[in-house]
Amino acid sequence: MRGTAFGLLSLNLVSAVKFIAQVSDTAVVHEILGQQYEKMDDNNGIGAIRLSKSFQAIYGDFPDHTLESMYYDGRIIAMSMDRTLTPAEYVVQAKAPSHLARLSQKAPLRKTDKAYIYHSNAGIGVDVYLLDTGIDAQNPAFEDRVQKVADYAYGPATAGDPHGHGTAVAGVIGSSEFGVAKKCNLFDVRIANADGNAGLVGVIRALEHVTKLATITNRPSLVVIPYTMAKNVILNAAVEAVVRDLSIPVIVAGGNNNQSACTVSPASAYGALSIGAIDVTKNDETAPFTNYGECIDVFAAGVDVSTIGLDSSLETKKSGTSVSAGIASGLVAYFMSLGFHGMDAVNRVKTLSASNVIPKLAQKCPSTRNAILQNL
Ligand SMILES: *[C@@H]1O[C@H](CO)[C@@H](O)[C@H](O)[C@H]1NC(C)=O
Repeated sequence: MRGTAFGLLSLNLVSAVKFIAQVSDTAVVHEILGQQYEKMDDNNGIGAIRLSKSFQAIYGDFPDHTLESMYYDGRIIAMSMDRTLTPAEYVVQAKAPSHLARLSQKAPLRKTDKAYIYHSNAGIGVDVYLLDTGIDAQNPAFEDRVQKVADYAYGPATAGDPHGHGTAVAGVIGSSEFGVAKKCNLFDVRIANADGNAGLVGVIRALEHVTKLATITNRPSLVVIPYTMAKNVILNAAVEAVVRDLSIPVIVAGGNNNQSACTVSPASAYGALSIGAIDVTKNDETAPFTNYGECIDVFAAGVDVSTIGLDSSLETKKSGTSVSAGIASGLVAYFMSLGFHGMDAVNRVKTLSASNVIPKLAQKCPSTRNAILQNL
């Protein structure tokens, strides 16, 4: 019975598996090997490690019956199969879409600049709650990392994404091809129906649902709201509560009205990370539709951005501050997977951004922060 606790039963299928066993510091590791386990099979590359007076171990391709006796040996204090570690390194996506390549360099993109360079953590272990029209979880570029958690849209609940907006935003957050955080967990919180319309009550009920989940799981979590409405005190207060009381980042679209983002919600909510749109293929000039002003924290690509379409075989191009907010959300998840907690990840996004790169922003609105997202 004890053997099943660490999976010995399944090992019966294979003749020998490489194991490492930590040996008690009061035992003499060479004695253990010499007396017993070495004799089991001389050709199995069995060896001893003595790292310090408090850590010693034996390793080797031990057969089942050896593993069994090791398990009952009081001098063996821990055992593990030889498992795989992945490198903590920077990965280069050599032919990345422009919205990703723009994150990895300070200067505006030239036609030849196509590399997205990112840390291999890439959002791993971070839960991204996307309030949107749904997510097409079946698309292979999401690699089974999408899970639906709630449906607060007008009309009947439905699986997937009958509209396409949510799938496009999720695509730049975390898809393998177009995503910033290629390993994050994507949670589909449906708030908008097939026409793309969401209701205020649904959004706030979704916030309640999501924050309860995040509090229970106690995992690194963030909330994305790629929607805007005319400035609304209740929506702003709800978003401010999530950020202030729970320290959960909320990333929002700055809005597509060519006006001050302080006139819309939730972009005007205090503490929300509010994103404007630029065209990274045109020297970072502002998108003609983007909102601006002191309620925009930072800009990201938002014109003809490549992402996931509803036909799973096709890529699509989307424009708007929604996709910009998606890119920023992926970046917050990325920094969370590098160890920045909650609002520290948001601050990291702000402080690392490239400043004074966007041309003519001061003419458009002098009080707007001139900052573009960066991941390095
Ligand atoms: C945006 O608004 C400004 C005036 O505030 C106007 O000059 C400009 O033409 C508008 N741009 C678009 C694309 O509507």
